[in-house]
Amino acid sequence: MKKIIIANLKMNFTQEDTKNYLDELITLSESITNKLVVCFPYTSLALAKDMLLNTKIIIGAQNVHQNESGAFTGEISAKMLKDLSCKIVLVGHSERRMYFEESYKLINEKIKTLLKYGMRAVLCIGETLKERETSKTKQVLKQQLDQALNGLYENELKNVLIAYEPVWAIGTGKTPTGKQIEECAKYIRNVISQNFSEKAAKNMNILYGGSLKPDNAKTLLSLSEINGALVGGASLNPDSFIKIAKVK
Ligand code: 13P
Repeated sequence: MKKIIIANLKMNFTQEDTKNYLDELITLSESITNKLVVCFPYTSLALAKDMLLNTKIIIGAQNVHQNESGAFTGEISAKMLKDLSCKIVLVGHSERRMYFEESYKLINEKIKTLLKYGMRAVLCIGETLKERETSKTKQVLKQQLDQALNGLYENELKNVLIAYEPVWAIGTGKTPTGKQIEECAKYIRNVISQNFSEKAAKNMNILYGGSLKPDNAKTLLSLSEINGALVGGASLNPDSFIKIAKVK
């Protein structure tokens, strides 16, 4: 089965950096059979649209505003992203929840807007260290899923991917064990099965994110419940991103 490997470039790269990055990534990605997505900062999207035409790298963004247009100074709409050939957008990343106080109610609105415009949403969920240490992981995951997917129709779930990103694993060099990841991914499928159907749960693409690097990619990506990866730091270097993307 093909894996979905997503780069989250976060707040990095000028136009020139983006050009150099893509020059290298396009060449390196020619032999990759997995699906490759890069979530660019907004300011790199127009350049990415030009450079990635006729390549197999899919263009993504890191955020979107929930409203379709209007007086929302400084924001970017789904329609604007679609116009830049953006196919997929991260929503609810823990950095957005932590630093910009995004709630899952808001994230739910963002998902609905993206689906309306025919784009796919990568819903990020995951527990903090305190929540894990107090045995609240499952409770938190359920709450996040219930709120974020509230009111969606089952047939819309094909355009939603879930990234399980424990907050304590992001940028820390720490990762959960394979067993812990499998347990959470299974639980995520359980919740989807209860809220939608067994079929929807089985078909859901669940990605792992958090300190994923070339040296742990094979172990983490071969977990049977995991369909791909959301990569932060290691995606900033085309070489290390491609090493991850090569995993079968
Ligand atoms: P790192 O890979 O740097 O831990 O970041 C993960 C992440 O936040 C991806 O969205």
